[in-house]
Amino acid sequence: MAYIHCPFCLSQCIYCDFAVDTRHGHSALLDATVEALCQEMTHCLTHQPASPLPPLPPLSSVFLGGGTPSRFSARQLQRLLDTLTRHQPLAPDAEITMELNPERPASPLADYRAIGINRLSIGVQSMQPNELKRLSRLHGPDDVRQTVAEARASGFDNLALDVMVGLPDQTPASWQATLEALVALAPDHVSMYGLQVEPGTKLASLVDTGRFTLPDEDTAVSMYWQGIDFLEASGLVQYEISNLARPGFASRHNTGYWQNQPFWGFGPGAHSSAYQMRRANPKSLDTYLANPTQPETVHHISPVEDLENALIFGLRQRAGVNLDTLAQIHGPDVIDRLQPLIEGHLSTGALEQDGTQLRLGRAYIPVSNSILDTFIGLGPVIRP
Ligand SMILES: C[S@@+](CC[C@H](N)C(=O)[O-])C[C@H]1O[C@@H](n2cnc3c(N)ncnc32)[C@H](O)[C@@H]1O
Ligand code: SF4
Repeated sequence: MAYIHCPFCLSQCIYCDFAVDTRHGHSALLDATVEALCQEMTHCLTHQPASPLPPLPPLSSVFLGGGTPSRFSARQLQRLLDTLTRHQPLAPDAEITMELNPERPASPLADYRAIGINRLSIGVQSMQPNELKRLSRLHGPDDVRQTVAEARASGFDNLALDVMVGLPDQTPASWQATLEALVALAPDHVSMYGLQVEPGTKLASLVDTGRFTLPDEDTAVSMYWQGIDFLEASGLVQYEISNLARPGFASRHNTGYWQNQPFWGFGPGAHSSAYQMRRANPKSLDTYLANPTQPETVHHISPVEDLENALIFGLRQRAGVNLDTLAQIHGPDVIDRLQPLIEGHLSTGALEQDGTQLRLGRAYIPVSNSILDTFIGLGPVIRP
Protein backbone atom coordinates (compact mmCIF):
# COMPACT_ATOMS: atom_id res chain seq x y z
CA MET A 1 0.00 0.00 0.00
CA ALA A 2 1.19 3.53 -0.68
CA TYR A 3 -0.19 6.94 0.24
CA ILE A 4 0.92 10.04 -1.69
CA HIS A 5 0.05 13.39 -0.08
CA CYS A 6 -0.81 16.13 -2.56
CA PRO A 7 -0.87 19.26 -0.39
CA PHE A 8 -2.46 21.96 -2.57
CA CYS A 9 -5.97 23.33 -1.98
CA LEU A 10 -7.87 26.31 -3.39
CA SER A 11 -8.30 27.56 0.18
CA GLN A 12 -7.88 26.31 3.74
CA CYS A 13 -11.15 25.09 5.30
CA ILE A 14 -11.69 26.36 8.85
CA TYR A 15 -11.78 22.88 10.41
CA CYS A 16 -8.88 21.28 8.53
CA ASP A 17 -5.64 20.27 10.22
CA PHE A 18 -4.06 18.38 7.34
CA ALA A 19 -0.83 19.44 5.56
CA VAL A 20 -2.32 22.00 3.18
CA ASP A 21 -0.77 24.74 1.06
CA THR A 22 -2.89 27.31 -0.79
CA ARG A 23 -0.23 28.46 -3.31
CA HIS A 24 -2.01 26.34 -5.96
CA GLY A 25 -1.63 28.99 -8.67
CA HIS A 26 2.17 28.80 -8.50
CA SER A 27 2.91 26.27 -11.25
CA ALA A 28 6.67 26.10 -10.52
CA LEU A 29 5.85 25.14 -6.93
CA LEU A 30 3.52 22.36 -8.11
CA ASP A 31 6.24 21.04 -10.44
CA ALA A 32 8.82 21.23 -7.64
CA THR A 33 6.49 19.27 -5.36
CA VAL A 34 6.07 16.54 -7.98
CA GLU A 35 9.86 16.34 -8.34
CA ALA A 36 10.32 16.19 -4.56
CA LEU A 37 7.74 13.39 -4.27
CA CYS A 38 9.53 11.44 -7.02
CA GLN A 39 12.84 11.96 -5.24
CA GLU A 40 11.41 10.75 -1.93
CA MET A 41 9.74 7.68 -3.48
CA THR A 42 12.89 6.71 -5.36
CA HIS A 43 15.03 7.15 -2.26
CA CYS A 44 12.76 5.20 0.11
CA LEU A 45 12.05 2.36 -2.28
CA THR A 46 15.67 1.89 -3.37
CA HIS A 47 17.08 2.12 0.19
CA GLN A 48 14.78 -0.36 1.90
CA PRO A 49 16.28 -1.46 5.24
CA ALA A 50 17.98 -4.83 5.53
CA SER A 51 15.37 -6.77 7.47
CA PRO A 52 14.62 -10.38 8.38
CA LEU A 53 11.04 -9.57 7.34
CA PRO A 54 10.00 -10.59 3.80
CA PRO A 55 10.00 -7.82 1.17
CA LEU A 56 6.72 -5.95 0.87
CA PRO A 57 4.30 -7.45 -1.66
CA PRO A 58 3.20 -5.64 -4.85
CA LEU A 59 1.05 -2.60 -4.10
CA SER A 60 -2.58 -3.57 -3.59
CA SER A 61 -3.55 0.07 -3.21
CA VAL A 62 -2.30 3.55 -4.01
CA PHE A 63 -4.11 6.49 -2.40
CA LEU A 64 -3.60 9.99 -3.81
CA GLY A 65 -4.81 12.05 -0.86
CA GLY A 66 -4.67 15.60 0.27
CA GLY A 67 -4.99 18.38 0.25
CA THR A 68 -6.64 18.22 -3.13
CA PRO A 69 -4.80 15.86 -5.51
CA SER A 70 -6.86 17.15 -8.45
CA ARG A 71 -4.92 20.43 -8.21
CA PHE A 72 -2.26 18.32 -9.99
CA SER A 73 -2.86 17.57 -13.66
CA ALA A 74 -3.30 13.99 -14.84
CA ARG A 75 0.20 14.23 -16.37
CA GLN A 76 1.71 15.21 -13.04
CA LEU A 77 -0.09 12.39 -11.23
CA GLN A 78 0.99 9.97 -13.95
CA ARG A 79 4.60 10.94 -13.30
CA LEU A 80 4.07 10.15 -9.60
CA LEU A 81 2.44 6.79 -10.33
CA ASP A 82 5.13 5.88 -12.89
CA THR A 83 7.92 6.68 -10.44
CA LEU A 84 6.26 4.73 -7.64
CA THR A 85 5.53 1.63 -9.70
CA ARG A 86 8.99 1.62 -11.30
CA HIS A 87 10.33 0.75 -7.85
CA GLN A 88 7.41 -1.17 -6.33
CA PRO A 89 5.15 -3.07 -8.73
CA LEU A 90 1.38 -2.74 -8.67
CA ALA A 91 -0.78 -5.80 -8.00
CA PRO A 92 -2.83 -6.54 -11.14
CA ASP A 93 -6.16 -5.50 -9.56
CA ALA A 94 -4.78 -2.62 -7.47
CA GLU A 95 -7.17 0.02 -6.13
CA ILE A 96 -5.96 3.49 -7.14
CA THR A 97 -7.91 6.23 -5.36
CA MET A 98 -7.83 9.98 -5.85
CA GLU A 99 -9.49 12.43 -3.45
CA LEU A 100 -11.49 15.07 -5.28
CA ASN A 101 -13.26 18.25 -4.19
CA PRO A 102 -16.51 19.23 -5.94
CA GLU A 103 -14.73 21.91 -7.97
CA ARG A 104 -13.09 22.14 -11.38
CA PRO A 105 -10.07 19.79 -11.44
CA ALA A 106 -6.78 20.63 -13.18
CA SER A 107 -7.55 18.03 -15.91
CA PRO A 108 -10.82 16.54 -17.20
CA LEU A 109 -11.88 13.60 -15.00
CA ALA A 110 -11.58 11.22 -17.97
CA ASP A 111 -7.83 11.99 -18.09
CA TYR A 112 -7.42 10.82 -14.48
CA ARG A 113 -9.34 7.64 -15.33
CA ALA A 114 -7.07 7.14 -18.35
CA ILE A 115 -3.91 7.05 -16.19
CA GLY A 116 -5.33 4.16 -14.15
CA ILE A 117 -7.09 5.92 -11.26
CA ASN A 118 -10.09 3.66 -10.65
CA ARG A 119 -11.71 5.10 -7.51
CA LEU A 120 -12.66 8.67 -6.57
CA SER A 121 -13.29 9.88 -3.04
CA ILE A 122 -15.32 13.08 -3.21
CA GLY A 123 -15.44 15.55 -0.28
CA VAL A 124 -19.16 16.34 -0.04
CA GLN A 125 -19.27 17.16 3.72
CA SER A 126 -22.91 18.33 3.66
CA MET A 127 -25.67 18.88 1.12
CA GLN A 128 -27.00 21.98 2.94
CA PRO A 129 -25.78 25.30 1.45
CA ASN A 130 -25.77 27.08 4.84
CA GLU A 131 -23.74 24.32 6.53
CA LEU A 132 -21.22 24.27 3.68
CA LYS A 133 -20.82 28.06 3.96
CA ARG A 134 -20.27 27.82 7.72
CA LEU A 135 -17.54 25.24 7.05
CA SER A 136 -15.99 27.69 4.53
CA ARG A 137 -16.38 25.13 1.74
CA LEU A 138 -16.21 26.66 -1.72
CA HIS A 139 -18.84 24.34 -3.26
CA GLY A 140 -22.60 23.95 -3.06
CA PRO A 141 -24.86 20.89 -3.40
CA ASP A 142 -25.23 21.38 -7.17
CA ASP A 143 -21.44 21.20 -7.60
CA VAL A 144 -21.54 17.83 -5.83
CA ARG A 145 -24.26 16.54 -8.17
CA GLN A 146 -22.34 17.79 -11.20
CA THR A 147 -19.04 16.25 -10.04
CA VAL A 148 -20.70 12.87 -9.39
CA ALA A 149 -22.39 12.94 -12.82
CA GLU A 150 -19.07 13.83 -14.53
CA ALA A 151 -17.25 11.11 -12.61
CA ARG A 152 -19.75 8.45 -13.71
CA ALA A 153 -19.70 9.75 -17.29
CA SER A 154 -15.89 9.59 -17.23
CA GLY A 155 -15.90 5.87 -16.46
CA PHE A 156 -15.50 5.81 -12.66
CA ASP A 157 -17.53 2.90 -11.32
CA ASN A 158 -16.23 3.14 -7.76
CA LEU A 159 -17.29 6.41 -6.11
CA ALA A 160 -16.85 7.20 -2.43
CA LEU A 161 -18.56 10.23 -0.88
CA ASP A 162 -17.37 11.82 2.40
CA VAL A 163 -19.80 13.60 4.73
CA MET A 164 -19.39 15.04 8.20
CA VAL A 165 -21.87 14.90 11.08
CA GLY A 166 -22.00 17.08 14.18
CA LEU A 167 -21.60 20.33 12.24
CA PRO A 168 -22.25 23.79 13.71
CA ASP A 169 -26.03 24.29 13.92
CA GLN A 170 -26.70 20.96 12.16
CA THR A 171 -30.05 19.46 13.25
CA PRO A 172 -31.46 15.93 12.87
CA ALA A 173 -33.72 17.36 10.12
CA SER A 174 -30.90 19.01 8.16
CA TRP A 175 -28.76 15.86 8.58
CA GLN A 176 -31.66 13.77 7.25
CA ALA A 177 -31.90 16.04 4.20
CA THR A 178 -28.15 15.58 3.58
CA LEU A 179 -28.46 11.79 3.94
CA GLU A 180 -31.34 11.65 1.47
CA ALA A 181 -29.50 13.83 -1.06
CA LEU A 182 -26.41 11.65 -0.63
CA VAL A 183 -28.25 8.38 -1.22
CA ALA A 184 -29.88 9.90 -4.32
CA LEU A 185 -26.34 10.05 -5.77
CA ALA A 186 -26.01 6.23 -5.49
CA PRO A 187 -22.56 6.17 -3.85
CA ASP A 188 -20.60 2.92 -3.73
CA HIS A 189 -19.02 3.97 -0.46
CA VAL A 190 -19.74 6.57 2.23
CA SER A 191 -17.39 7.85 4.93
CA MET A 192 -19.35 9.55 7.71
CA TYR A 193 -16.94 11.42 9.94
CA GLY A 194 -17.86 13.13 13.21
CA LEU A 195 -16.52 16.71 12.93
CA GLN A 196 -13.32 16.96 14.99
CA VAL A 197 -12.49 20.35 16.44
CA GLU A 198 -8.73 20.33 15.90
CA PRO A 199 -6.73 22.57 18.23
CA GLY A 200 -5.34 25.68 16.57
CA THR A 201 -7.87 25.73 13.72
CA LYS A 202 -10.19 28.65 13.06
CA LEU A 203 -13.09 26.36 13.95
CA ALA A 204 -11.58 25.78 17.41
CA SER A 205 -11.49 29.52 18.10
CA LEU A 206 -15.07 29.99 16.77
CA VAL A 207 -16.30 27.23 19.09
CA ASP A 208 -14.21 28.40 22.07
CA THR A 209 -15.55 31.94 21.79
CA GLY A 210 -19.15 30.73 21.51
CA ARG A 211 -19.67 32.02 17.97
CA PHE A 212 -20.31 28.46 16.69
CA THR A 213 -22.44 25.97 18.59
CA LEU A 214 -21.98 22.26 18.06
CA PRO A 215 -24.71 19.67 18.72
CA ASP A 216 -24.52 18.35 22.30
CA GLU A 217 -23.15 14.86 23.02
CA ASP A 218 -26.56 13.08 23.08
CA THR A 219 -27.68 14.72 19.83
CA ALA A 220 -24.35 13.84 18.19
CA VAL A 221 -24.73 10.16 19.18
CA SER A 222 -28.33 10.08 18.00
CA MET A 223 -27.35 11.69 14.66
CA TYR A 224 -24.58 9.09 14.31
CA TRP A 225 -27.17 6.27 14.52
CA GLN A 226 -29.57 8.21 12.31
CA GLY A 227 -26.85 8.22 9.64
CA ILE A 228 -25.81 4.57 10.03
CA ASP A 229 -29.41 3.29 10.10
CA PHE A 230 -30.50 5.36 7.10
CA LEU A 231 -27.47 4.45 4.99
CA GLU A 232 -27.79 0.76 5.90
CA ALA A 233 -31.47 0.84 4.95
CA SER A 234 -30.38 2.19 1.55
CA GLY A 235 -28.20 -0.89 0.87
CA LEU A 236 -24.82 0.18 2.23
CA VAL A 237 -23.18 -2.02 4.85
CA GLN A 238 -21.26 -0.59 7.80
CA TYR A 239 -17.82 -2.21 7.90
CA GLU A 240 -16.01 0.27 10.16
CA ILE A 241 -16.99 2.89 12.76
CA SER A 242 -17.24 5.67 10.14
CA ASN A 243 -17.41 3.74 6.86
CA LEU A 244 -20.09 1.97 4.86
CA ALA A 245 -19.98 0.42 1.40
CA ARG A 246 -22.01 -1.52 -1.09
CA PRO A 247 -20.96 -5.19 -0.90
CA GLY A 248 -17.56 -5.53 -2.60
CA PHE A 249 -16.76 -1.79 -2.38
CA ALA A 250 -15.07 -1.51 1.04
CA SER A 251 -11.95 0.64 0.73
CA ARG A 252 -9.01 -1.71 0.33
CA HIS A 253 -6.64 1.05 1.31
CA ASN A 254 -8.24 1.90 4.64
CA THR A 255 -8.89 -1.77 5.34
CA GLY A 256 -5.14 -2.27 5.03
CA TYR A 257 -4.56 0.38 7.74
CA TRP A 258 -7.18 -1.22 10.02
CA GLN A 259 -5.57 -4.61 9.50
CA ASN A 260 -2.21 -3.15 10.55
CA GLN A 261 -0.60 -3.81 7.16
CA PRO A 262 2.69 -2.08 6.31
CA PHE A 263 2.36 1.03 4.14
CA TRP A 264 4.47 3.70 2.52
CA GLY A 265 3.53 7.35 2.90
CA PHE A 266 5.10 10.08 0.77
CA GLY A 267 4.82 13.86 0.87
CA PRO A 268 4.47 16.55 3.52
CA GLY A 269 2.85 15.29 6.73
CA ALA A 270 2.75 11.69 5.45
CA HIS A 271 3.59 8.69 7.63
CA SER A 272 5.03 5.29 6.71
CA SER A 273 4.95 2.09 8.68
CA ALA A 274 7.12 -0.65 7.24
CA TYR A 275 9.83 -3.01 8.43
CA GLN A 276 8.97 -2.20 12.07
CA MET A 277 9.79 1.49 11.53
CA ARG A 278 7.39 4.42 11.63
CA ARG A 279 8.51 7.48 9.67
CA ALA A 280 6.77 10.87 9.79
CA ASN A 281 7.49 13.67 7.33
CA PRO A 282 7.44 17.37 8.22
CA LYS A 283 4.04 18.97 7.72
CA SER A 284 5.31 22.21 6.23
CA LEU A 285 5.66 22.06 2.43
CA ASP A 286 8.72 24.34 2.47
CA THR A 287 10.52 22.16 5.04
CA TYR A 288 9.62 19.07 3.03
CA LEU A 289 10.82 20.59 -0.25
CA ALA A 290 14.13 21.62 1.30
CA ASN A 291 14.94 17.93 1.87
CA PRO A 292 12.27 15.47 0.74
CA THR A 293 14.22 12.40 1.82
CA GLN A 294 14.59 13.59 5.42
CA PRO A 295 11.77 12.46 7.72
CA GLU A 296 11.01 14.58 10.78
CA THR A 297 10.83 11.55 13.08
CA VAL A 298 11.77 7.90 12.78
CA HIS A 299 10.55 5.50 15.41
CA HIS A 300 11.06 1.76 15.96
CA ILE A 301 7.74 -0.06 16.38
CA SER A 302 8.18 -2.43 19.33
CA PRO A 303 6.32 -5.77 19.41
CA VAL A 304 4.05 -4.38 22.18
CA GLU A 305 3.21 -1.31 20.10
CA ASP A 306 2.55 -3.51 17.09
CA LEU A 307 0.02 -5.51 19.11
CA GLU A 308 -1.59 -2.31 20.43
CA ASN A 309 -1.94 -1.07 16.86
CA ALA A 310 -3.42 -4.40 15.71
CA LEU A 311 -6.09 -4.13 18.44
CA ILE A 312 -6.82 -0.41 18.25
CA PHE A 313 -7.14 -0.33 14.45
CA GLY A 314 -8.60 -3.84 14.08
CA LEU A 315 -11.43 -3.26 16.54
CA ARG A 316 -12.58 -0.26 14.47
CA GLN A 317 -13.82 -2.77 11.88
CA ARG A 318 -17.31 -4.22 12.42
CA ALA A 319 -15.76 -7.66 11.89
CA GLY A 320 -13.29 -6.90 14.69
CA VAL A 321 -10.09 -8.89 15.18
CA ASN A 322 -9.41 -12.60 15.15
CA LEU A 323 -7.75 -13.80 18.34
CA ASP A 324 -6.18 -16.85 16.66
CA THR A 325 -4.57 -14.65 14.01
CA LEU A 326 -3.28 -12.28 16.71
CA ALA A 327 -1.89 -15.26 18.66
CA GLN A 328 -0.08 -16.51 15.54
CA ILE A 329 1.53 -13.11 14.97
CA HIS A 330 2.19 -12.01 18.56
CA GLY A 331 2.41 -15.33 20.43
CA PRO A 332 -0.32 -17.27 22.28
CA ASP A 333 1.08 -16.39 25.74
CA VAL A 334 0.76 -12.68 24.92
CA ILE A 335 -2.90 -13.07 23.98
CA ASP A 336 -3.50 -15.15 27.16
CA ARG A 337 -2.23 -12.25 29.28
CA LEU A 338 -4.76 -9.95 27.63
CA GLN A 339 -7.64 -12.17 28.73
CA PRO A 340 -8.47 -10.32 32.00
CA LEU A 341 -8.74 -7.00 30.10
CA ILE A 342 -10.87 -8.61 27.39
CA GLU A 343 -13.09 -10.39 29.97
CA GLY A 344 -13.71 -7.05 31.71
CA HIS A 345 -14.97 -5.53 28.44
CA LEU A 346 -17.04 -8.63 27.62
CA SER A 347 -18.79 -8.36 30.99
CA THR A 348 -19.91 -4.77 30.31
CA GLY A 349 -20.84 -5.45 26.68
CA ALA A 350 -18.16 -3.05 25.41
CA LEU A 351 -16.73 -6.01 23.49
CA GLU A 352 -18.47 -9.11 22.20
CA GLN A 353 -16.94 -12.42 21.17
CA ASP A 354 -18.15 -14.86 18.54
CA GLY A 355 -15.83 -17.88 18.51
CA THR A 356 -12.35 -16.42 18.05
CA GLN A 357 -13.67 -13.14 16.61
CA LEU A 358 -13.64 -10.18 19.00
CA ARG A 359 -15.46 -6.95 18.17
CA LEU A 360 -16.93 -3.79 19.67
CA GLY A 361 -20.43 -4.10 21.12
CA ARG A 362 -22.81 -2.09 18.92
CA ALA A 363 -23.91 0.31 21.66
CA TYR A 364 -20.27 1.22 22.33
CA ILE A 365 -19.40 2.20 18.76
CA PRO A 366 -20.06 5.95 19.20
CA VAL A 367 -17.83 5.96 22.33
CA SER A 368 -15.29 3.57 20.84
CA ASN A 369 -12.29 5.74 21.77
CA SER A 370 -12.85 5.18 25.49
CA ILE A 371 -12.67 1.39 24.89
CA LEU A 372 -9.85 1.42 22.34
CA ASP A 373 -7.74 3.63 24.62
CA THR A 374 -7.62 0.82 27.20
CA PHE A 375 -5.42 -1.08 24.71
CA ILE A 376 -2.73 1.61 24.87
CA GLY A 377 0.19 0.99 27.24
CA LEU A 378 -0.07 -2.83 27.26
CA GLY A 379 3.63 -3.26 28.14
CA PRO A 380 3.09 -4.01 31.86
CA VAL A 381 0.14 -6.30 31.02
CA ILE A 382 1.93 -8.56 28.58
CA ARG A 383 5.47 -8.28 29.99
CA PRO A 384 4.77 -8.20 33.74
C1 LIG B 1 -8.38 15.77 4.41
S1 LIG B 1 -9.79 15.73 3.41
C2 LIG B 1 -9.06 15.72 1.85
C3 LIG B 1 -10.06 15.64 0.74
C4 LIG B 1 -10.58 16.92 0.18
N1 LIG B 1 -9.66 17.96 0.15
C5 LIG B 1 -11.81 17.37 0.92
O1 LIG B 1 -11.76 18.36 1.60
O2 LIG B 1 -12.81 16.72 0.76
C6 LIG B 1 -10.44 14.09 3.59
C7 LIG B 1 -11.67 14.02 4.44
O3 LIG B 1 -11.34 14.23 5.78
C8 LIG B 1 -12.49 14.66 6.46
N2 LIG B 1 -12.06 15.68 7.43
C9 LIG B 1 -11.16 16.66 7.27
N3 LIG B 1 -11.05 17.40 8.39
C10 LIG B 1 -11.91 16.87 9.30
C11 LIG B 1 -12.27 17.18 10.65
N4 LIG B 1 -11.72 18.22 11.30
N5 LIG B 1 -13.19 16.40 11.26
C12 LIG B 1 -13.74 15.35 10.62
N6 LIG B 1 -13.45 15.02 9.35
C13 LIG B 1 -12.55 15.76 8.69
C14 LIG B 1 -13.46 15.24 5.45
O4 LIG B 1 -14.67 14.53 5.44
C15 LIG B 1 -12.71 15.05 4.14
O5 LIG B 1 -13.56 14.65 3.11
S1 SF4 C 1 -10.16 21.18 0.78
FE1 SF4 C 1 -9.90 19.31 2.06
S2 SF4 C 1 -7.72 19.16 2.49
FE2 SF4 C 1 -8.11 21.21 1.64
S3 SF4 C 1 -8.32 22.52 3.43
FE3 SF4 C 1 -10.38 21.83 2.87
S4 SF4 C 1 -10.70 19.90 4.05
FE4 SF4 C 1 -8.53 20.37 4.12
